[in-house]
Amino acid sequence: WIASVVGLAIAYLFGSAPTGYLAGKLLKGIDIREHGSGSTGATNVLRTLGKWPALVVLLVDVLKGAAAILFARWFYLWFSTLSSVTPSTALDRQSWEPWAVFLAGLAVLLGHSRSIWLNFAGGKSVATGLGVLLAMSWPVGLGAVTVFGVVLAIFRIVSLSSILAALTAITLVFGLEQPLPYRLLVIAGGVYVIARHRTNIQRLLAGIEPRLGQGSPESK
Ligand code: G3P
Repeated sequence: WIASVVGLAIAYLFGSAPTGYLAGKLLKGIDIREHGSGSTGATNVLRTLGKWPALVVLLVDVLKGAAAILFARWFYLWFSTLSSVTPSTALDRQSWEPWAVFLAGLAVLLGHSRSIWLNFAGGKSVATGLGVLLAMSWPVGLGAVTVFGVVLAIFRIVSLSSILAALTAITLVFGLEQPLPYRLLVIAGGVYVIARHRTNIQRLLAGIEPRLGQGSPESK
């Protein structure tokens, strides 16, 4: 459990890395939380700072999600091999490894949206969630990102694409018979990501959620 807790703490710190906020400060000297939707995610970076900063923030946010999972897995297995074990306890420890992934996955999502460096504000954990999915189980991540892309191409609304991608991930962890900790991670993470979109959902229901390139939520 020590290894799992270390993985969780490191994952939270990875998630907390305030990429969107730093992009706003470094490129325009602004606090991105005071612009557009107030999110530090790539979508708000796109509408506030432009295409290239958004692409960089998107990539880094996906990478930090993946890095948290890969680190937690590696650290858990490395830590487990430190003490001498019999084959049966080694097997037992391996079966606990998905739980280390579960804790790290939740922690990195939480870190991104409740960053320790930003007074516990942040983004909506979509890009970071994609990184988590790809590192946890790439077919689940691929399915979610495909649905995201298709919905975005049709409707040009990022929040709608994110919500449907989260629902797709939840469906896929069951359809692809993933281990219990992965199922719980994706359910909890998916519900969390959708809950982070509650103001988007209100705007979607009212028919006033801006499409890509149509300004910020406030300007509608
Ligand atoms: O990835 C976040 C996206 O789904 C919505 O972002 O800034 O439009 O609320 P935003």
